[in-house]
Amino acid sequence: MPWRLPDHGGSFDPYKIMVSEIMLQQTQVGRVEPKYKEFIVRFPDVQRLAEAPLADVLKVWSGLGYNRRAKFLHQAAQQIGLGKFPQTAAELTKLPGIGTNTAAAILVYAFNQPVPFIETNIRTVYIHHYFSEATEPVDDKQLMPLIQETLDQEHPREWFWALMDYGAYLKTTVGNLSRASKHYAKQSTFKGSRRQIRGQIIKYLNESPQSLDKLTQNIKDERLITVLEELVSEGLVAKTKTSYHLPT
Ligand code: ADE
Repeated sequence: MPWRLPDHGGSFDPYKIMVSEIMLQQTQVGRVEPKYKEFIVRFPDVQRLAEAPLADVLKVWSGLGYNRRAKFLHQAAQQIGLGKFPQTAAELTKLPGIGTNTAAAILVYAFNQPVPFIETNIRTVYIHHYFSEATEPVDDKQLMPLIQETLDQEHPREWFWALMDYGAYLKTTVGNLSRASKHYAKQSTFKGSRRQIRGQIIKYLNESPQSLDKLTQNIKDERLITVLEELVSEGLVAKTKTSYHLPT
């Protein structure tokens, strides 16, 4: 995984870790890998991302899904600007798109700070080892103290890489134990969803601005206009009198 390779000198670039963690939030490793590489070539640092038009960011993001993440990442880069990269959870969670767990993952992987966090593979490990007999769905509140207690204080980065890999391995053997989690959320079906229409709109607008007529010909779905207006209100799509386009 490219985000696990240190830069020359052995340190990790927090910007690149932030990009990878936001991409990995809702998308599987195999789909993130090529997009991550492309993204880093196109936007190699915070400044280059901050100064890029959002349309260019959405263009590279296209295919990863959940396009709001691209906008959040772009805004996060603009908020960091020329300043020092945030190194505390309090500062990181002020950035759009970064919640408590993503903030902690960035602190662990970028700065090797021993801070506990949970995500799907980590959940699988702790449920397997501590709650295999549970009859009620397990709450993350029950897992966090165990994650804290077992954390390798000297090697947090390697510890969490290993936990994630072990969780991924367990999913192929004992099955997805995070189903026994109170927080387990099945990915909603993509086909026929509003999310699919959102992706289609962004894909067409990536090619060129489109009139509503043109979009209606291409995307035959009665929800088109409401989805389009939703994208406009979120700032992911802009419109003129005659056409829709990606925001500059
Ligand atoms: N491998 C799988 N998911 C990961 C993540 N979120 N961060 C680092 N490595 C990972």
